[in-house]
Amino acid sequence: MKRLIYISLLAILSGSTFSQQKSRTIIDFNKNWKFWLGDTAIAKEPAYNDKNWRTLDLPHDWSIEGEFSEKHPGTPNQAALPTGIAWYRKTFTLPATAKDKNIFIEFDGVYRNSEVWVNGHYIGKRANGYISFGYDLTPYIKPGAAQQVIAVKVDNLAQPNSRWYTGSGIYRNVRLVAANKIAIDQWGTFITTPVVNDKTANIQIQSVVNNSTGKAGQGTVYTDIYDATGKLVVKASPGAVNSNWPAGKSTLTYTAHITNPQLWSVEKPYLYKAITRVVVNGNAVDEFVTSFGIRYFSFDVQQGFFLNGKPTKILGVCMHHDLGALGAAINVRAMERQLEILKDMGCNAIRTAHNPPAPEFLDLCDKMGFLVMDEAFDMWRKKKNKFDYNIDFDKWHKQDLEDQVKRDRNHPSVIIWSIGNEIREQFDSTGIPITRELVNTIKQLDSTRPVTSALTELDTTKNFIYQANALDLLGLNYNQQIYPEVPTRYPGKKFIAAETMSALASRGHYDMPSDTMRFWPLKGQKFVQNGNPDYTVSAYDHVAAYWGSSHEETWRIVKQHPFISGLFVWSGFDFLGEPVPYPWPARSSYYGIIDLAGFPKDAYYMYQSEWTNKTVLHVFPHWNWERGKEVDVWAYYNNADEVELFLNDRSLGVRKKQPLDFHVQWRVKYEPGTLKAVSRKNGKNIASKIINTAGAPARLEIVPDKKILHADGKDLSFVTIRVVDKNGNLVPHADHKITVQITGEGVLAGMDNGYPASLESFKAVSHKAYNGLCLAIIQSKPKAGNIRVAIKTPGLPTANIVLQTR
Ligand code: GAL
Repeated sequence: MKRLIYISLLAILSGSTFSQQKSRTIIDFNKNWKFWLGDTAIAKEPAYNDKNWRTLDLPHDWSIEGEFSEKHPGTPNQAALPTGIAWYRKTFTLPATAKDKNIFIEFDGVYRNSEVWVNGHYIGKRANGYISFGYDLTPYIKPGAAQQVIAVKVDNLAQPNSRWYTGSGIYRNVRLVAANKIAIDQWGTFITTPVVNDKTANIQIQSVVNNSTGKAGQGTVYTDIYDATGKLVVKASPGAVNSNWPAGKSTLTYTAHITNPQLWSVEKPYLYKAITRVVVNGNAVDEFVTSFGIRYFSFDVQQGFFLNGKPTKILGVCMHHDLGALGAAINVRAMERQLEILKDMGCNAIRTAHNPPAPEFLDLCDKMGFLVMDEAFDMWRKKKNKFDYNIDFDKWHKQDLEDQVKRDRNHPSVIIWSIGNEIREQFDSTGIPITRELVNTIKQLDSTRPVTSALTELDTTKNFIYQANALDLLGLNYNQQIYPEVPTRYPGKKFIAAETMSALASRGHYDMPSDTMRFWPLKGQKFVQNGNPDYTVSAYDHVAAYWGSSHEETWRIVKQHPFISGLFVWSGFDFLGEPVPYPWPARSSYYGIIDLAGFPKDAYYMYQSEWTNKTVLHVFPHWNWERGKEVDVWAYYNNADEVELFLNDRSLGVRKKQPLDFHVQWRVKYEPGTLKAVSRKNGKNIASKIINTAGAPARLEIVPDKKILHADGKDLSFVTIRVVDKNGNLVPHADHKITVQITGEGVLAGMDNGYPASLESFKAVSHKAYNGLCLAIIQSKPKAGNIRVAIKTPGLPTANIVLQTR
């Protein structure tokens, strides 16, 4: 077994052409790691025998593989999943031709306190669990035949250290970079567009050359810019043909000019590619690729946000980094699916709450057209939890913030830096110097984007982050009732509603009456008193945490005032941890517009009806109730003047939204049968929707979001399983235990049903349906072929589907 692994590793690494290398080689370093859950300090020794350790591929999150327990020290805020200490080791070889290279290892994120040894040498520690970092391994490795060993200790033991689920382990990508002795530095380009309009763009390029030869040298740097079709648009280089490069790092700044640029926007996210080349003695020694976009934006005190000169409301959501049943382990398709679902709702912006995201997340935002508020911290020196980043802040914050900005500043999607969320230092004068320092740190590296912080203290005399007078943009969380007063309370300030709503809902669960608002919990309570015994929350938009509001209430205010540049709804998706309003066994959030499995809750369609031009007519709830019960029927609709509702062909009346209404409602005495809604504009039918009383469960309906997967071992198909009656109506309370069997070129990556108090493992092959729905996430193997999926539940016929990998 060991021999096999060794051979395949050798094949991977020697397959990369280090010899006569013109440029850098970037090696995916995620495969074939050894993993041990527990602390074993001797594992840093190269000779340590890890034969009995588990073999796995990164990205990896060991917390998500664990069982839920009330006893885990992370508490339900960390999803009641295990944390602890673990070790990763990887044995590899490098071809002898790598001996003239500099070898770097790059980690996109390790939660947390990672420490790295290479061939027994201690390389370094990084405390922050969300930051990307790298090490120069050159002095410690021996290219050639000898086996090299890298050992990583990950320490997520001290708990609690977060208000939400973090995951544990090397949960983002790792790569090895082999570069020449003179090469572009890590994150060594910065491309800005100081002058842009529809006709012309002046581009400024900054290149950081790292000359590690130990002596001065000469060479040339230039950058070729290609359009999205791959056509060379312009060549840019510093004035002098030859630059003198002292030993160490030199920064070169030069410009280019593009006529008729294609602007990046949320509707048309056009990307250019820059390839920066380093030439020494006529030899190209490095090629460094930077993707970027050309766009301009501004915030206006009265008129809000403008993108490329066009007024654009920022219609955003806050997103934590977990991917539901996949945990924190990043997967590009899983992130892309989240963004697709949000895009379909009309969302155009993401706040990366409350930490830097995976770099691939920003790549997706660039490609798919999302604006991003890229956030650094949830706390500074003052803690929110005993062992959180407060203990690392003094030592690490400057480097962490600098690295975040250097890594992310070429992304056109990123339009705001946030130095922190609800930071405690806003409440006393210690907030002033830290705010100034952090803003200054960012401005040194990027002066093209505004800096904000998500504040909660409204009184300026008591808000010391505000008093630092260093923020470009005033960001307030909640407190929607004062938004209309922002221009008078905070004169001259550009404004964004940095976090809003905290409305709560369980998908598919409805409590009557729908037109009374419930605050769960009430102020002064930790948990809701007299909530529902099954840990559900009604999905009519009428429940919120006491500091929040319904979706409609805050959107109504934001919509009316052009000076509000936009909002970030808490939250886009449900996330693991923070199960307000319930204690254990609730272990994931209720805040999402979309549940943890990715199934939209009803409020999704309120946003869709407001934020898109697509015709929406969404009618709820389901139609299976006790005869005679008074049931409230809601409809979200747009592109129409009115909706008429029929029960078993009898009209229950026409309803019309008044200005600033977002839904219409009927109170109906329940009888089984067919509920039908018709929306009309100028008397003409626009859309109709039918909800039938469902009969007995008869079969499983399978809806994969993708039938053909890349045979890359990473791609995913998200398969929705619906429990339906013989006519295909969703059975609204079905909770069948569903078992998934897979043969062929796929594996089951996780299962979920979106129920926040489910204690079934995400990694098991069986999972109950919740309110009729269940999700199976199927991952491709790295080989082309078929994936046969059999989906079973007692008492119903087995449903089969075949997916393909190519
Ligand atoms: C906010 C906080 C978020 C989340 C939210 C829940 O105050 O910034 O991280 O905790 O409350 O309502």
